[in-house]
Amino acid sequence: MMMSENKGLPPLRFPRALTDMLEGKVGIVTGASRGIGAASAIALADAGARVVLAARDDEGLRAVASSINGGKERAMAVPTDVSDSESVERLVGLTVERFGRLDFAFNNAGSGHMPTPMADLSVEDFDSVLAVNVRGTFICMKYEIPAMLKSGGGSIVNMSSTAGLQGVNGIAGYVAGKHAVVGLTRAAALDYAKQNIRVNVVAPGPILTERLAGRMSQEQAAFAVPLGRVGNREEVAVVVAWLCSDLASFVTGAVIPVDGGRMAGVAFARPSVTPSVTAGISDRAPRSG
Ligand SMILES: NC(=O)c1ccc[n+]([C@@H]2O[C@H](COP(=O)([O-])OP(=O)(O)OC[C@H]3O[C@@H](n4cnc5c(N)ncnc54)[C@H](OP(=O)(O)O)[C@@H]3O)[C@@H](O)[C@H]2O)c1
Repeated sequence: MMMSENKGLPPLRFPRALTDMLEGKVGIVTGASRGIGAASAIALADAGARVVLAARDDEGLRAVASSINGGKERAMAVPTDVSDSESVERLVGLTVERFGRLDFAFNNAGSGHMPTPMADLSVEDFDSVLAVNVRGTFICMKYEIPAMLKSGGGSIVNMSSTAGLQGVNGIAGYVAGKHAVVGLTRAAALDYAKQNIRVNVVAPGPILTERLAGRMSQEQAAFAVPLGRVGNREEVAVVVAWLCSDLASFVTGAVIPVDGGRMAGVAFARPSVTPSVTAGISDRAPRSG
């Protein structure tokens, strides 16, 4: 079990089962300065990996890196803008220089825009959301894949959302970006399956992070989640750790919702079939005689 300090959020708690799952492996986590990425970097290190933490906020990255057991031996912070190819090339180069190989990557960095109907969304906001989510995911894979090929293969996990699997009103740029991440994942999985690189994508529903807490109540966010609550960062991190590990060795090109059942469909608040509906059905039944 591993715990760390969090601003206004419950402490992180991971199951002991993570131990040794990623022993000897080296990985990159983007968007690791806070939220799901920070929690995942801690979980992946807890599972035995050496991790390289990437995001733009150097101070945030260093704080997360210093909370990882084993300190500098197990974690390195590299300030990175995933939408900038030189920056990502440097990130991958420094990873291999420092730890000698690259076995997995969690391309988690993402950003959204303020809710607004599509015609009111500025072109600049649309472009900036796609620059991080789509261009960033593409650029990360572009530089990670050659490094993984040199290590004999690897595992990439990209970050989508339930908004990458269905429409959501008011966030067209985010919806488009997260759908594109699913497409990029499937294409990469097919391109590199024969070379032992697995590529999968997680699609979380509402997860309690500072970002979510700043926008709405947990009750609002849990609307339409069959399990009736928001998820926590650990519940995404353990799925990512499993996908990065050899335990998921026959899983590639998969889209894995981590969403409390949200993508299973809609759970209407009706405990049983009502008498009026039953009557309607029997009314339409064929009559004899
Ligand atoms: N929380 C949820 O309910 C939820 C649900 C589904 C999917 N997701 C997805 O999960 C991911 C993490 O979400 P979160 O809730 O943890 O959000 P968050 O707290 O806002 O974290 C986003 C992370 O992405 C990094 N980032 C943003 N732009 C970047 C760039 N250009 N280059 C490098 N890093 C960049 C941020 O770091 P810097 O600002 O330091 O660069 C930060 O570390 C996102 O892709 C999000 O879309 C979240």
